[in-house]
Amino acid sequence: MCGIIGYTGPDPALDVLVDGLATLEYRGYDSAGVAVVAPGGNGLSVVKCAGKLSNLRAALDGQALPGTTGLGHTRWATHGHPTDNNAHPHVDASGDLAVIHNGIFENYADLKAELAADGHTFTSDTDTEVVAHLIGALREQTGDLADAVRAALHRVTGAFALAVIDRRDPTAIVAARRAAPMILGRRDDASLLASDVAGLIAHTRDVEALLDGQVAVLEPGRVTVTDLDGNPAEGHRYHVDWDVSAAEKAGYDHFMLKEIHEQPRAVAETLLRRTDADGRIVVDELRGGPAVEDDLRHVDKVYVVASGTSYHAGMVAKYAIEHWARIPVEVEIASEFRYRDPLLTPHTLVVAISQSGETSDTIAAAVHARDQRAKVLAISNVVGSTLAREADAVLYTRAGPEIAVASTKAFTTQIVALDILALYLAQLRRALFPDECRDHLARMDALPMLMQQVLEQEPAIAALARQFAGAGYVMFFGRHVGLLIALEGALKLKEISYIHAEGFPAGEMKHGPIALIEDGGPVVALATRGHVRDKVVSNIQQVKGRGAVVLAVATDGDTEIKQHADHVVYVPEVHELLYPILTVVPLQLLSYHIAVVLGRDVDQPRNLAKTVTVE
Ligand code: G6P
Repeated sequence: MCGIIGYTGPDPALDVLVDGLATLEYRGYDSAGVAVVAPGGNGLSVVKCAGKLSNLRAALDGQALPGTTGLGHTRWATHGHPTDNNAHPHVDASGDLAVIHNGIFENYADLKAELAADGHTFTSDTDTEVVAHLIGALREQTGDLADAVRAALHRVTGAFALAVIDRRDPTAIVAARRAAPMILGRRDDASLLASDVAGLIAHTRDVEALLDGQVAVLEPGRVTVTDLDGNPAEGHRYHVDWDVSAAEKAGYDHFMLKEIHEQPRAVAETLLRRTDADGRIVVDELRGGPAVEDDLRHVDKVYVVASGTSYHAGMVAKYAIEHWARIPVEVEIASEFRYRDPLLTPHTLVVAISQSGETSDTIAAAVHARDQRAKVLAISNVVGSTLAREADAVLYTRAGPEIAVASTKAFTTQIVALDILALYLAQLRRALFPDECRDHLARMDALPMLMQQVLEQEPAIAALARQFAGAGYVMFFGRHVGLLIALEGALKLKEISYIHAEGFPAGEMKHGPIALIEDGGPVVALATRGHVRDKVVSNIQQVKGRGAVVLAVATDGDTEIKQHADHVVYVPEVHELLYPILTVVPLQLLSYHIAVVLGRDVDQPRNLAKTVTVE
């Protein structure tokens, strides 16, 4: 979603801004722009345009916008089409201020009408331009930019991270946030801001996440944080320990392919140090004193809330926690959970899963649960993210930075984290014998090596991708944990290839979806060994009988399946609950290679954003 970068320091701002925007490209965007202020009242330069950063570079055409303070923005359209006019930065009526913003100002229409009645005219369809005018008008009254921003934010509703520069104060940036990420970077000679740490690490690793309702004034080498009333405040300070190379492609054509291949290592990291000397499962993050363990021992209901791929990972919790720990689990899309009236008590555990920890729907669901006195456990990949801070405890997936919009290694590590949680709950509540817990965990240690074996089939999967690339519609089906991989396989394919794809419970095919089967229509079936394997084979026969071409994902040694399916991809045998960690890998590779054959923008597919910070 929108990328924000800001710099004030000794160097020309433009290069820092454009390079910073490049590191944030992965978030997904459809237009880009920069604004730079020059000292000595020389002015405010704004250049912005629809499309990718290459268009902005072309529009800049080698111009060096003068000034050492500036803002850059990549926009993911919410109000108005992705046009040059709607791109950020937006200026106020005086032309002195430039504003960039991530989020939605919900009451912008009322504010716009009010400002229009006072004679303001607007050049875009955006909510951001309205707030730029509001801040500008208040700036005339207060005489101080930070006071004007605080006054404006008392009047707006919605979620935002925003930053403002002012020609009249050309070495300062004012920034603020409510329910959208804004990270500040501190250096002795400069101050920076960005919508996520990836934009800052080339400059500093000492960062401070602004908290909700905080306003910061950044000057070279100095950052001052207040609350909305101007009282001194402090954000959440931390040190970033991953390095820049972790966020580079390392010889792969795309981040997505690199991240698919990183999965064995990422899963090994998630599994690292999970037992003590006696072989008991330890989850250090959940220790936090006996209170946390005691709370978990008395949990009588678990809700899992998440969005997108994280929701599919969350589905595994229903199978694993119910099977191993014997606690009832409901899994729900975060944006639905928050708007109904779930029954939450102090004995309810809400597990909120988010790779980024910044997905606004998931954060809102977690905050709602916490307000109802439920216990909130976050599963996130980003240390210090908003979700991590809002939760009672956090289990980190340790997958390393995930850059491609389509999530891969975050997904498999989330499933591993949920399996660890399920076994930990089983151990705490004595639902399994200690040696059973230990055995299950020990079996998981083989997963990285088994994933590597699946990855080695990439050439064969790439060949299959060439056959599937012409399809208009691909159906995926599975049962039990195969269902969540059917859903995730379909999501991956539609996200990056734009081929229409849907996943179904295999048993539901006959109740409707089978009507869509046409001669030669491709179907992907999750048919690994286990108690539902034969049922899935019956479902394969039903679609084959209607002309489908079936690709089955099956267990090594299951040669019988070749009598039913046209193509088979094999994965090694594992415990039934662990199959998703292996079976998703060929489907990730299949989607990737189909998208490459079709010439799609794999890492930044159209209309999608990596981190969705609006409702
Ligand atoms: C976006 C991304 C998906 C991701 C989802 C949830 O839609 O494109 O890849 O699964 O957000 O993101 P989260 O960071 O909360 O896991």
